Amino acid sequence: MVKVTVCGAAGGIGQPLSLLLKLNLTVSQLSLYDIVNANGVAADLSHISTPAVVEGFQPKSKDDKDTIKKALSGSDIVVIPAGSPRKPGMTRDDLFNINASIVRDIVINIGHVCPKATILIISNPVNSTVPVAAEVLKRMGVFDPSKLFGVTTLDTVRAETFLAGLIGEDPASLKGKISVIGGHSGETIVPLINVVDYVSEKAAKLSKKDYDAFIQRVQFGGDEVVKAKNGVGSATLSMALAGYRFTLQVLSSLSGEKSFAKVPDSAYVYLPGLPNGQQISAKYLNNISYFSLPVNLENGAVKSLVNPFDSLSVSSDERKLIDVALTGLQKNIAKGTSFVKSSK
Ligand code: NAI
Repeated sequence: MVKVTVCGAAGGIGQPLSLLLKLNLTVSQLSLYDIVNANGVAADLSHISTPAVVEGFQPKSKDDKDTIKKALSGSDIVVIPAGSPRKPGMTRDDLFNINASIVRDIVINIGHVCPKATILIISNPVNSTVPVAAEVLKRMGVFDPSKLFGVTTLDTVRAETFLAGLIGEDPASLKGKISVIGGHSGETIVPLINVVDYVSEKAAKLSKKDYDAFIQRVQFGGDEVVKAKNGVGSATLSMALAGYRFTLQVLSSLSGEKSFAKVPDSAYVYLPGLPNGQQISAKYLNNISYFSLPVNLENGAVKSLVNPFDSLSVSSDERKLIDVALTGLQKNIAKGTSFVKSSK
């Protein structure tokens, strides 16, 4: 019996993500919250013949503080794709002013109603919205760092697709065989490709030009979609798949399933609060407090982080990318943290 709530369920990501969740047989309750059209999406999905009971929750007015509480009540997992997407020319950071307060307000409700839920944040800029969520929960005295995740899986999905094209592999075969760490915007995204021998051997044959183009494409792949959609939004369908893939990793951990991937998918987490996060951060990551690393999960929470510097082979080029990522991340994290600290 697992209840999943999607906040922002009527949006470009929210709708296909909710569809995928409705198809999952381990989800027993699917709660769809949005400030618009949540009831319509819920009615539509509720006709699909799978066990999950779907309910829509849409506030009746701006002053309606109860509907979100009803939506969240009893949730085991809350996925948050609420907020505005990018338009051409915008960076993810440009979204901060709109989305930080949306995430803050949703997370306050989670802190009140279902503080033990696993929280998956999709709303951008993830590098800053996750610190916003963490600060809110810390303030409320209910922060469990092992249950707060920024969803960065789309970067891994893109890396698998783009690398597969270059080395002549089936993209699906690369799942769990490369890793993407760091953050979720531009130069903070760091693909690691030396995880399994046959992939690193093939990747080693890439020219420097092709390798650099691969890194650039993973880091800025989101821009391709924003440009092609020409003002209508950013990645929604690939993101729904990626968000579902990470939610599935959480759902599997709740049902005790074992994964056979060489590396599990990464997520952006608060390192100081995690079993080996503090150590990894102090030894290799300049004491950064948030970073996306592969997460081993148990019962919807981080059991341990995969230390890429121990378990995966980080090349000198990749180490340089990590250093660049750390500089960008420090600023993004400070922005999210100070947003909550400076608000009443
Ligand atoms: P969208 O505009 O299509 O949908 C957003 C939904 O959020 C809308 O239905 C809107 O009504 C709802 N919403 C707004 N304020 C809300 C509130 N206070 N409570 C509940 N719902 C609220 O946007 P889209 O394309 O679905 O993107 C959503 C977010 O995901 C954006 O911030 C976008 O940048 C981000 N994103 C994240 C990615 C990642 O890899 N983590 C990848 C792609 C997008």
